[in-house]
Amino acid sequence: LNISVLISGGGTNLEALLQAIEAQQIPARVVQVIASQPDAYGLTRAGNWDIPTKILPVNEPEKADKLLLEWLEEADTQLVVLAGYVKKVPPTVVAAYPNRMMNIHPSLIPAFAGPGWYGIKVHEGVWQRGVKLTGATVHFVNGEMDGGPIILQEAVALSHEDDPAAIQQKVLAVEHRLLPRAVSLFAAQKLQVAGHRVILKDEVS
Ligand code: GRF
Repeated sequence: LNISVLISGGGTNLEALLQAIEAQQIPARVVQVIASQPDAYGLTRAGNWDIPTKILPVNEPEKADKLLLEWLEEADTQLVVLAGYVKKVPPTVVAAYPNRMMNIHPSLIPAFAGPGWYGIKVHEGVWQRGVKLTGATVHFVNGEMDGGPIILQEAVALSHEDDPAAIQQKVLAVEHRLLPRAVSLFAAQKLQVAGHRVILKDEVS
């Protein structure tokens, strides 16, 4: 299974995926890492694993959209993984990978999700609201931001002492397990999309 990973930042989810592929022998290969900006540390991580990297032009949105689709197709991508990718995926690219593009979001969607909810902002909102449970979600990408069919979710219990940074760390730890699990299920063809719902074939009685 050829995977292209899109990043914007530190790339700890990329790192977790690469380690899981190697350790759990997930039948998949990250064929390239595409960053939305040149200072994404995830590019360094990709380099450490000898994975080809590409950087989208930051100030030329039309050119970037065209390049992104070309790069994905040139690499014979079968699954696109958004791992800390903060830009909107152009509709042309979403349409080219129906239920073959997944995103990880650091909350229990639909809470603290949608336009404007990304990175530490998610955990600041969680902290402000004083929720007792937050978590992480892996979902297929469709036209709406954080709106596609949900693949996996896992909850994270919070204490009143947790500030946004502590919340982020607790959620990241879950993300680093959840994303590889979702990719592994996809690689094993155990994910079946039925309308807005994802059925995990393992659980089909
Ligand atoms: C993660 O919290 C992810 O859920 C969100 O942005 C963060 C990226 O972290 N989309 P990293 O770049 O994978 O370390």
